[in-house]
Amino acid sequence: MRKLALFVAVGALVFVSSCGTSAPPVRMVVGTPALEVPSLREAHAGYFLVGNVISPRNLGRESFDVLTRHFNIVTAENHMKPDHLQRERGVFTFTHADNIVNAALEAGMYVHGHTLAWHNQSPAWKNYDGISREQAIENLQTHIRTVMEHFRGRVRSWDVVNEVMINNPANPEDWVASLRPTPWLRAIGPEYIEIAFRTARETDPTVLLYYNDYNMDNQRKARAVYHMIRDINARNPDVMGRPLIDGMGMQGHYNLGTLVENVRGSMRRFASLGVQVSITELDILAGSNYRLTEAQAIQQGIMYARLFALFREHAHFIDRVTIWGIDDEHSWRARQNPVLFDAWYRAKPAFFGALQPVEFLAQHGIFFREVETLTADARFGTPTMNPDDPAWQTAPTIPVDRHVVAWAGATGTARVLWDETHLHVMVNVVNANMNMSSTIPQEQDSVEIFVDETNLKAGPFGSGDGQFRINFANGQTFNPAAIAAGFESLAFTTGERSYTVIARIPFRVITPEAGTVIGFDLQINGASPEGFRQSISVWNDTTGNAWQDTSGFGNLRLVR
Ligand code: XIL
Repeated sequence: MRKLALFVAVGALVFVSSCGTSAPPVRMVVGTPALEVPSLREAHAGYFLVGNVISPRNLGRESFDVLTRHFNIVTAENHMKPDHLQRERGVFTFTHADNIVNAALEAGMYVHGHTLAWHNQSPAWKNYDGISREQAIENLQTHIRTVMEHFRGRVRSWDVVNEVMINNPANPEDWVASLRPTPWLRAIGPEYIEIAFRTARETDPTVLLYYNDYNMDNQRKARAVYHMIRDINARNPDVMGRPLIDGMGMQGHYNLGTLVENVRGSMRRFASLGVQVSITELDILAGSNYRLTEAQAIQQGIMYARLFALFREHAHFIDRVTIWGIDDEHSWRARQNPVLFDAWYRAKPAFFGALQPVEFLAQHGIFFREVETLTADARFGTPTMNPDDPAWQTAPTIPVDRHVVAWAGATGTARVLWDETHLHVMVNVVNANMNMSSTIPQEQDSVEIFVDETNLKAGPFGSGDGQFRINFANGQTFNPAAIAAGFESLAFTTGERSYTVIARIPFRVITPEAGTVIGFDLQINGASPEGFRQSISVWNDTTGNAWQDTSGFGNLRLVR
């Protein structure tokens, strides 16, 4: 409702200003000066804030006008980092930061604070080797309190802790073991993260507190961060009225090879924790050596467009999208031309991709459609393994009829029930060739059941994930092998070309309750008369990748 109202108000403003006579015409052409193209923040008003970085060099310059035209929130690119604010112990220098913050506020922009605790751009005196734990905690807390007090009422949100996770954790489920060995960690232990957030909340409960990190498209790293936030908020559910961590900042230093699917998966996973998500440092590398061919510029525009289309679809949990750099020349990754305006503040294809993502994609022949994840209900109950047990009839039917390959062969319908210990699945298959002559199990007429108990949709199989395959003669295969324990199934033919599979799958990691949503999918492999798989029908995941990737599974809601 709030977003809708805002949108209407902005629409009205645009209408009023276009009635005036003095408004300069806006141009939608690549190469147009930034001050003459439509405003990016207005294009996304009502969806999310649109931000960029600010430095003292921008004040009073053309780049500042670019900022105010296109952005409504700024992050200090460097001047609010620990080494700028307190280079020497106890000596706080706020002059540059104050100049930036005040100029932004006077120009009607919000300010996001970056950052209170980090291993980079942080002075060595704070947590040198051999410092006592008490002294390190005091240094951490004094910095946070002094800085937040100083900016009270002027800064809307803070990155409290920045980049604490290593890049490719071996076991993302264990976030503590996945922490970067920073000086703070060495001196204080993993509690430093919680201490920093608690100190921040207690200093100013009105400010939104963020955890911020890069490469959150990496599913392993994102999973470790997910577990960290989940754990910290579970232990601190009510710190002055709400959970301790308010938001997850996905920096987003991407390139043309970044998989948008992975960005989507991570942002949804974070949102499932109930925290808001922001894109905090978006730039996309393209070209090399300060050069960008036309084709590369278009590719970059497409990547910006796909990401902005994604952000708009998820605007209900996205607070802010910040670009990391006003123009390519001043970007921290200038060599690879990563932002929306070129060195002369002219709009690149990237700008138009970010401005009107769906239209931009259409212009380049890409029809944008979010792949909808299906959701089905499983009813509470414990049916027998007899298909005529009336309990089965209480569950709604789930169609297994989307084709993954060109050939349309065996399809079916399923019903699912659940109780405290098991998932009960019945699949009725029709139009099968009843062939199991191949020695490769997936080539035989068979049913596959996919389960992601924690519904992390995290990609590679982890704990609580599994694939159960049962052929029409009840031959069972499992991935991973360990999930065979406690599994039971029956299979029987019901006609010349039809069979039924009934399976009982024990819950291994969750205790299910009404309202729990698990990741779930179904697949029917159809063998040809010669015994080769010729058709694959699924309920939700048409990628054909469910056997090794949980991110495309559907959602199964456990209802009473
Ligand atoms: C970068 C700045 O853009 C550079 O000017 C500076 O030299 C180094 O830091 N993650 C962060 C940002 O959280 O603070 C970093 O900014 C980029 C990576």
